[in-house]
Amino acid sequence: LLRLGAAAAGGAAAALAGRGAWDAAAAAPAPAPVAADAAGRVTVPFRGARQAGVATPQPAFVALVALDLVAGADRDAVTRLMRIWTDDVERLMAGRPGLADTEPELAQVPAALTVTVAWGPGVFTAAGIEDRRPSWLAPLPAFAVDRLEDRWCGGDLLLQVCADDQVTVAHAVRVLTKEARTFAGVRWVQRGFRNSPGTVAPGTTARNLMGQVDGTRNVDPDVEPHLVWQVDDAGPWVRDGSSVVVRRIAMDLDTWDELDRVGRENAVGRRLADGAPLTGAHEHDEPDLDARDALGFTVISDAAHIRRARTDDPTHRFLRRGYSYDDTPAAGALSDSGLLFVAFQADPVAQLVPVQERLAEADLMNLWTTPVGSAVFAVLPGAREGEVLGQALLV
Ligand code: HEM
Repeated sequence: LLRLGAAAAGGAAAALAGRGAWDAAAAAPAPAPVAADAAGRVTVPFRGARQAGVATPQPAFVALVALDLVAGADRDAVTRLMRIWTDDVERLMAGRPGLADTEPELAQVPAALTVTVAWGPGVFTAAGIEDRRPSWLAPLPAFAVDRLEDRWCGGDLLLQVCADDQVTVAHAVRVLTKEARTFAGVRWVQRGFRNSPGTVAPGTTARNLMGQVDGTRNVDPDVEPHLVWQVDDAGPWVRDGSSVVVRRIAMDLDTWDELDRVGRENAVGRRLADGAPLTGAHEHDEPDLDARDALGFTVISDAAHIRRARTDDPTHRFLRRGYSYDDTPAAGALSDSGLLFVAFQADPVAQLVPVQERLAEADLMNLWTTPVGSAVFAVLPGAREGEVLGQALLV
């Protein structure tokens, strides 16, 4: 409590008032160490100029949790919430229980846990800091392919919780949403997954649920940090901040099933077996977009996903860090599957929107995929030693 300072202690106490379980947990002896195996013991540093969960390796599981501030929440409420989350995220990422953790044993398997905190437009309004809101922080424009459902859109706050273990993710989400409940309530949760650690060779590009190798050509934030982060003080947002676009894109796997292999490969412009472009031999070969077959047709279709997803403008690029989802199907349906498309970029309007427009115009993949959710958040800069997330914006 001391480390949080008086205001935060008040906030934590208020958040926890009337909860006997907390007293019990606080008074409980430290849990006996669990026998975590190597993958379970991995920790990612929390402190730093930039938040983890963007440029750090992508763990197997994600929970994307959007929250809305309670009515009347003001700058003081946002400040208290950020103090509580800063403290709890630091603890949990280090494999230690949250301050008021009622299941402290579950914190002992950090499994590369990262929690990334981002703000929607509502935080800037509630905190009376509209002048600090980046110009791009608004819902994406409507695209012709969109069939958005309110239940997967918007939000005042986002927690991106990633780890190599689902128990770790569930516990972190529970701790952080419980701590937040005086200030904010859950709006939506989207859970996703990739291959579990140890199941595919390190460095293997993941496959999505259409069976495609997905993630071959991506931005490397170490090589081109300016595409992912705001790298100076001159832009619309704060240095070392970023933005995250979350799009829930449903896959119609029933109609995809009806398509033969040639048609499937044509839709993306890459081979299913190894992800190589239709004009190349290996996954990382550069596609030859000018190559033509004996009949004079382009080998990579004019509407192939990889052709439509590129432009000649080197700034129309972003870091894709998506996950598959596979939820309970509606009555009579076989599946409810798709892609949690998660993209980080310094400026979504300048970098991502032009690409999404090109895809909406003519991407063969549109025949089998439908965006049903969309949200944009401003990723806070990291908290250095002694700092609280978002503090520079709230003073
Ligand atoms: C590339 C799948 C949606 C942007 C790819 C590739 C696949 C794929 C298989 C080729 C491998 C690779 O380079 O990663 C999908 C699926 C989607 C989807 C299944 C929806 C369910 C989107 C959206 C965007 C996007 C919404 C952007 C708004 C890109 C980009 C590339 C790419 C930029 C790399 C293109 C290149 O430079 O070659 N996607 N994608 N994708 N996709 Fe998607």
